[in-house]
Amino acid sequence: MVAIYLLIGVVTLLYVYLKWTFSYWDRKGFPSTAKSIPFGAMESVAKGKRSFGLAIYDIYKSTKEPVIGLYLTLRPALLIRDAQISRDIVTKDFASFHDRGVYVDEENDPMSAGLFQLEGAGWKNLRTKLTPSFTSGKLKAMFETSDVIGDKLVATIKNGIPQGGNKEVDIKKLMSTYAIDIIGTTIFGLNVDSFADPNNEFVAISKKLNRKNFTDILRTAALFLYPGMEKFFVRIGWKQEAIELMRELSHRTIDLREKNNIARKDLLQLLLQLRNQGKISTDDNVWSAESTKNGVKSMSKDVIAGQLFLFYAAGFETTAATASFTLYELTQNPEVMEKAKEDVRRALENHDGKLTYDAISDMKYLEACILETTRKYPALPFLNRVCTQDYPVPDSKLVIKKGTPVLISLLGMHLDSENFPDPMSYLPERYLEESKDFNQAAYMPFGEGPRMCIGARMGKVNVKIAVAKILSNFNVEMRKEKKELEFDINGASLMPKYGVPIRLSLKK
Ligand code: HEM
Repeated sequence: MVAIYLLIGVVTLLYVYLKWTFSYWDRKGFPSTAKSIPFGAMESVAKGKRSFGLAIYDIYKSTKEPVIGLYLTLRPALLIRDAQISRDIVTKDFASFHDRGVYVDEENDPMSAGLFQLEGAGWKNLRTKLTPSFTSGKLKAMFETSDVIGDKLVATIKNGIPQGGNKEVDIKKLMSTYAIDIIGTTIFGLNVDSFADPNNEFVAISKKLNRKNFTDILRTAALFLYPGMEKFFVRIGWKQEAIELMRELSHRTIDLREKNNIARKDLLQLLLQLRNQGKISTDDNVWSAESTKNGVKSMSKDVIAGQLFLFYAAGFETTAATASFTLYELTQNPEVMEKAKEDVRRALENHDGKLTYDAISDMKYLEACILETTRKYPALPFLNRVCTQDYPVPDSKLVIKKGTPVLISLLGMHLDSENFPDPMSYLPERYLEESKDFNQAAYMPFGEGPRMCIGARMGKVNVKIAVAKILSNFNVEMRKEKKELEFDINGASLMPKYGVPIRLSLKK
């Protein structure tokens, strides 16, 4: 009998708790989405029907409210739909939204202290120190590496095409290999050749990163939604394989460089400069990392490993997806394809037939194509912040309370006809026209403001190299009928569900 009373008591308490939790936005006076208990806005994710980014996009489409409350399971959060408020949050009102509110534990888990996760003054300090790593001068120095890997991409495809014939390839898979090698080489300075050795350490790490079994999904959800839970998992010693592999690889590479005084032109070298000299040189010709501080290290190997892991994770899928989506759109839009090919041909001709950094910078139409790809397919389909001081919503009586997670659906804003006329059409001309006939506040494929993507320029250059190499070496067959790609339901980034098929033949 006691057990029954106890059970009734527990059920009643749970009911009251859930009702209270799921009435948060009503109590705060915000409009909100349907309260489906216990997953809230995450119901379609929990059922395995949508990825996080697509679920947030669905909510964006379901309402016209400028700001709407939702529940990320038990956690109330806000989706900002209004383009100007979204932009203000990440730019001019940054002081009220400077953190992402995801898991980070600098003291006990230094590898978690990546630039993406860090908060407040710690983030600002590191961002200032890392910014010189991504100047155009530094990118120029790394350009040759990307160019060589681009040639391997071309050679691999050529080998697969029968003489005088053509072949359908999954360009997403090939671009992933290309991006893994670029990131592995320009970040770690290792001779990564995944085209020749598809079982190397970097491919193994990327497979583990992309694997989506129950525990991976749980850990990703904890990382973003319940940082306290992730802290607990780490404290009890529940390791994540991809992170451990990266830790081991990073330590090994750092030791090799430091013991043998090796200086290379890559991001690791610049992080070693920071470790041994306290700052990254603003002189693009200085790459030495010899200690100037009597052996004092201002950054531990684990913190360096954390940055390397982040650059790798943030850089490889985004680059591969953007290059693949661009080529796919070209196969569906004959006029755009012709203009892009002509742009590449003309730029090469003006630079003695060589694909140099300057030749790539000269490809203005191709640049516009990449901009349009990142609109229609923002590789990271949402931005997230946490409110760091109470924030009055402009033109309303509502106040966003400190501690509230805030989401911005890039996919939603980029595909909204109120922001972009004819949003499903692929129109690179949008960015070339003087008038720029779209709502510029709504266009943020790399984020905006102080926390925008630090690797945006590097990402775009590597995408342009890959697309330019494909267009100048192959005939890309046009699709007979237009077809929108379906998106994968796993992971945080926007990925094609079934790869990206395109048909190529050799140029005569
Ligand atoms: C086409 C390629 C890429 C796309 C579309 C992309 C997109 C993004 C987006 C949307 C954000 C969030 C910005 C915000 O919250 O305001 C971000 C952040 C970031 N990205 Fe990228 N990214 C790309 C390539 C790269 C590359 C190549 C690297 C590094 C090598 C990189 C490193 C980072 C880092 C470290 C952050 C966090 C910055 C901070 O919090 O200070 N990304 N990226």
